[in-house]
Amino acid sequence: MSANKKIVVTIDGPAGAGKSSVAKLLARRLDYRLLDTGAIYRSVALTAQRRGVAWSDPAATAQIARELDIQFHFVGERNHVSLGGDDVTDAIRAPDISQGASQVSAHPEVRAALLDLQRRLAAGGGVVVEGRDTGTIVFPAAEAKFFLTASVEERARRRVAELTAAGRPVDAEVTLREIRERDERDASRDVAPMVPAADAVLIDSSTQTLEQVVDSLAATVLARSVERI
Ligand code: DC
Repeated sequence: MSANKKIVVTIDGPAGAGKSSVAKLLARRLDYRLLDTGAIYRSVALTAQRRGVAWSDPAATAQIARELDIQFHFVGERNHVSLGGDDVTDAIRAPDISQGASQVSAHPEVRAALLDLQRRLAAGGGVVVEGRDTGTIVFPAAEAKFFLTASVEERARRRVAELTAAGRPVDAEVTLREIRERDERDASRDVAPMVPAADAVLIDSSTQTLEQVVDSLAATVLARSVERI
């Protein structure tokens, strides 16, 4: 006999590769929870900004990370983020918070504090975790790991379209430059550089539709969830 067990699925990759859309659709398809780890780093950056704490200050931003009271909950199709009961879903998507999140995420003290938090939030399995180091550092024993990428131009084009649709039009060239800068900083940092786990399935989303990507991930997850009982 066999049954489906609820596993931990990680989806890593650079900004704009389609992680958020893929992770959300996959979570819905599998009836799994969705843990958006980028939103956690963004929440640390937002809290620092609101308290007048510099993003370059490792000790003060790590203290914010340790005390972060964060909650995720779906409202319709949207994964909402609350900090101490305050809905920050839109506020954490502002372009300056993207830069702040990248800066605070380079502090080892902040990453250490958030490691515990992420593991607590994913306890019990049945969760899709979306991030940049979730398959390598945060959940090295995850049963299904994916590394999703796309060309830098395609990723910039998607980010411009996403922000424009959200009523925040941005300059295409500035966005391309910012994504290149963030890639460089995220890939070259000493702590948890953005690299695929050795056992991750690599997916290039520039050449596939969203549906095709989700279909292929769901098939892999289901194959790995089968448990002999
Ligand atoms: O995926 P995102 O754009 O929401 O991530 C915001 C920033 O947070 C990004 O610049 C890098 C950082 N981050 C990280 O270092 N590790 C993660 N697991 C998720 C995000």
